[in-house]
Amino acid sequence: MGRVVTGRWVWGGMHRAGEGLIRVRTFVQVYPRSRGKRIMVRAPVIGRAAVFLFRMSLGLRRLAPQASGCLRWLCTSREWTNFTFHVTEHNLREMAEFVHLVTGAPRETARCYLDEGLADTGLRRHVAEVTAAVPFCAFADREARFGRRLGWYALARILKPRVVVESGVDKGLGTCLLAAALLRNEADGSPGKAYALDIEPGAGWLVRPPYSSAVEFRVGDSHATLRQMSEQIDLFVHDSDHSYQHEAGEYRIIQERLSDEAVVVSDNAHKSTALMDFAASVGRDYYFCPERPENEFYPAGGIGAVPMGKSRG
Ligand SMILES: C[S@@+](CC[C@H](N)C(=O)[O-])C[C@H]1O[C@@H](n2cnc3c(N)ncnc32)[C@H](O)[C@@H]1O
Repeated sequence: MGRVVTGRWVWGGMHRAGEGLIRVRTFVQVYPRSRGKRIMVRAPVIGRAAVFLFRMSLGLRRLAPQASGCLRWLCTSREWTNFTFHVTEHNLREMAEFVHLVTGAPRETARCYLDEGLADTGLRRHVAEVTAAVPFCAFADREARFGRRLGWYALARILKPRVVVESGVDKGLGTCLLAAALLRNEADGSPGKAYALDIEPGAGWLVRPPYSSAVEFRVGDSHATLRQMSEQIDLFVHDSDHSYQHEAGEYRIIQERLSDEAVVVSDNAHKSTALMDFAASVGRDYYFCPERPENEFYPAGGIGAVPMGKSRG
């Protein structure tokens, strides 16, 4: 049996004919190699229905891990805001690369510090015990899941900052992790202090001894608090009001108070360009590391960082 010719007539371009132009109609032949595709071409209604079902199965297969992640989250977590989660091994490697690029420290060193923060059993126990003892323990998880805060930890271990500022504290998981880095730095001979700023007077309830010894709380709007601070800042972490105006305002206020080797971090860089714009305005490089939660249900964020000591290359 000869090959079945399928195709259709289409209008082509204009061709010169004598003095004028004529439109040309061409028969475009289609010879799909697979039987299924030939049927789709010859019976487009059935073809479209089959493709619709195929596309639907693709979509559902993409949603399945999120749906099962959502079920796991509903059954295993008590959190209803500021979710905490573990990140993938792939993401830890990306974070090590990010910290290496931001600080210039070897990526192996960055990875060691990420692992050090991750494996801090003392801090994990502290989080579990304090969470179990607070009145709203029914709405918080006892397991310490640091996510991208591990990036802040590695930066604090490498930079050995004298002054860290974290704007936006919530229960204080990031503050505790930063304090753990500062306490280890102190044991290594490089003491430092963290200023934890939050508008909520009750924020930072996780920050108790021994971590509280490295932390000073300032309650109030972060703009007002930052304006009152006179300390030179070595590491700044934005994690407060995530509106562009507020975040950009924080960078404007601290700009003159950053030390020469300071690093400015945004925990909101996946949603806002405020830090990227700040980097451009001061002629510095901007780096970004995406976050990849183990449970695909969580909306992933990302960390942005601007090393003030590195001129734009
Ligand atoms: C995303 S949470 C901080 C999370 C925290 N850094 C952590 O590691 O889990 C945001 C916090 O910013 C605080 N906040 C919101 N607006 C603020 C403002 N204008 N000034 C200071 N803190 C603010 C909120 O009270 C909240 O505790």
